[in-house]
Amino acid sequence: MISRDEMTALDSADPLAASHAQFDLPDGIIYLDGNSLGPVPKGVPERLAQVVNEQWRGDLIKSWNVHGWMDMPLRVGDRIAPLIGAGPDEVLASDTTSVNLFKLMAAALEQRPDRKVIVGQTGNFPTDNYLAEGLIRFTDNDHELRLVDGDDVLDAIDDTVALVSLTQVDYRSGYVQDMAAVTAAAHDAGALMLWDLSHSAGAMAVDLNGAQVDFAVGCSYKYLNGGPGAPAYLFVPRRLQDLVRQPLSGWLGHAAPFEFEQSYRPAPGILRQQCGTPSILAMSALDAALDVFDGLDMALVRQKSLSLTEHFIALMEQRCAGHGFTLATPREQVRRGSQVSWHHEMGYPIMQALIAEGVIGDFRSPDILRFGFAPLYLRYVDVWDAVMVIDKVMSEGRWDRPEFHQRSAVT
Ligand SMILES: Cc1ncc(COP(=O)(O)O)c(C=O)c1O
Repeated sequence: MISRDEMTALDSADPLAASHAQFDLPDGIIYLDGNSLGPVPKGVPERLAQVVNEQWRGDLIKSWNVHGWMDMPLRVGDRIAPLIGAGPDEVLASDTTSVNLFKLMAAALEQRPDRKVIVGQTGNFPTDNYLAEGLIRFTDNDHELRLVDGDDVLDAIDDTVALVSLTQVDYRSGYVQDMAAVTAAAHDAGALMLWDLSHSAGAMAVDLNGAQVDFAVGCSYKYLNGGPGAPAYLFVPRRLQDLVRQPLSGWLGHAAPFEFEQSYRPAPGILRQQCGTPSILAMSALDAALDVFDGLDMALVRQKSLSLTEHFIALMEQRCAGHGFTLATPREQVRRGSQVSWHHEMGYPIMQALIAEGVIGDFRSPDILRFGFAPLYLRYVDVWDAVMVIDKVMSEGRWDRPEFHQRSAVT
């Protein structure tokens, strides 16, 4: 088994080690839940204070112009774009992931009026499938959501399919879809392709334009560290922007919002994907949070992520063999996201005990303990320490205290 000293040596050689100092992590915890809610980047509180005190308080409504509030959804989108392989003006920071899914799924169906099928996966994050169900209800139920059980979706894509809608990295298992191959298969069948990047952006390089993807959405409160409920983002490539229409035709997606015209006319480009007034405080927090990605090589981020997860799996299998954990995450690196999940029938109380000991991951029903490895602030030594705590909690039966069996609303 690798020693703690050897893990410390890996930290010393880590080209991303300096990023750790950009985060404000509480003492005494090992944070393995950045795939759910990223921690606070140090620049965020200062930026929020500045926006509230100088801009909102000082310049009041003038701020929409003088501080560029109006352009923030595009500006922030442009900062996310290089992380996901998109070009300038192809990404908009807006709304929530769920709302963006609705907008883009509806836009896609309108492009394929003769086709009645949306292909999804049972393993998609529920909101993705729920939104498809909801949208189908508004199409007089003449569409169908075809859900694939398992990771191989290619067989479900045929010439009845209007849209394939998948999560790139499975939120439970961490399985990574082959974005290029699935997108190509969708296109070969004449369908459009939508990817949910919530569990990939910020932890691995994503190449939307390289794979000729049609639509994408994602959360920015996970690996992008934008804060709880941070604005989500959506991607539409230039080639489609003026062809598609979205159903939430709010005034800020209008071609001339301040002309207050009687009828809706969609704005050119990505701006037609906007609906109503953006949350400037939340958008400012996200903007400041994105500073940590400035100049970062996402290939290095991916390399470290894989190395952290590889070490975690190996250490768990060496140190915690016999504690009843079964790996739920692919061993094959190319198929593994930035998380490691384990099945355990006592998953819920075990995770509560770990959190009480300062190792924070989360639990996903029915039996998954999920540990996220955000390469910008996690150290190799954290991985080693976390495994020792897991071993202690299991060996000493600490997880079996009554209080750890009580379910909270958020797991
Ligand atoms: C893949 C995926 N999509 C969407 C969401 C949630 O979307 P929203 O921000 O609209 O709640 C999550 C939340 O964890 C998610 O994991």
